[in-house]
Amino acid sequence: MPCSVVVGGAFGDEGKGKIISYIALKENPSIAARAGVGPNAGHTVVTSGKTLKLRMLPCGVVNQRTKLMIGAGVLVDPNILLKEMSETKSENRTIVDRNCAIIEQRHIEADKSGYLKDKIGTTGTGTGPANSDRVLRIAKMAKEEEQLSIYVGDVSQEINTALDRNEFVLLEGTQGTLLSLYHGTYPFVTSKDVSASAVCSDVGIGPKRVNEIVVVFKAYFTRVGEGPLSGELDSAETVKRGWQEYGSVTGRLRRAAPFNYDLAKRSIMLNSGTQIALTKLDTVFPSCAKVRDYASLTGEATQFVKDIESELGRPVVYIGTGNETEDIIDRTKSTG
Ligand code: IMP
Ligand code: MG
Repeated sequence: MPCSVVVGGAFGDEGKGKIISYIALKENPSIAARAGVGPNAGHTVVTSGKTLKLRMLPCGVVNQRTKLMIGAGVLVDPNILLKEMSETKSENRTIVDRNCAIIEQRHIEADKSGYLKDKIGTTGTGTGPANSDRVLRIAKMAKEEEQLSIYVGDVSQEINTALDRNEFVLLEGTQGTLLSLYHGTYPFVTSKDVSASAVCSDVGIGPKRVNEIVVVFKAYFTRVGEGPLSGELDSAETVKRGWQEYGSVTGRLRRAAPFNYDLAKRSIMLNSGTQIALTKLDTVFPSCAKVRDYASLTGEATQFVKDIESELGRPVVYIGTGNETEDIIDRTKSTG
């Protein structure tokens, strides 16, 4: 498939990093491009026993042959990007769109106090204030940032050219559809749209270029920061079920709730999702831990997958059963 988009179906932290890294290793994209808001995202990738926490680079970094790009719609924090490129030794295969806007220290400070911190519970990474400056047309652009001068380029042109050559391109969204500025639980949302349409616009392709839209859901819902979460469990019940998680950017305890079919259905609609990836099935059904073939799932777990497919009307193609990239059931491989 020449172009796949991966987006979060809920409130972020669905496990996109794991799904993206698996697809990147399996399908050898010529380009993996990061869309989304900016370094407010934290994508965790565990491969070959090593844990990577990525906030700026695409998770496609796990495939050494893949070129890494950051689309114009994304906000770049140069310090975080330079650090991640250096840690992963990926400087020579990374291109930042010249029209990315830059997060500056004053944005981070503004995001760490007052309304944004207290009322919204933002990640404090400067993304909202930087997008605000961008809309006011006073943001600094990547092409004006000296530290990035050797990395800037025209990502839209690169991606469209690769697609013209029929190469596989993997596009990576951030956050989750229910945190979209337009379609989420305003004002408890992030600072831009994060649906599959926004992913296209972030990297500069038209929607007709996309073949698959993979919507990622976790087997239960979580939310960090403020805003509604229907069916929310109290923290004792969350811990009892083993669903407690801590934010990879902020370290905050995530709020948790059971899988919400109504919200998931809406998310499929907003993204025109074609496939579902379901992560952390092993957290809800511990007997599924590290299972790699569908036939070995217990009856209860299989029923859950079937319920999701019948309610959402889309196939569950990938099922995550552990932290490692390879702990996955890949149903594109078999008829199971
Ligand atoms: P901001 O994106 O930092 O402005 O935060 C706005 C809201 O989105 C807050 O509730 C954050 O906790 C949430 N949020 C932003 N990025 C992520 C993410 O990557 N995962 C989960 N929640 C996020
Ligand atoms: Mg995250």
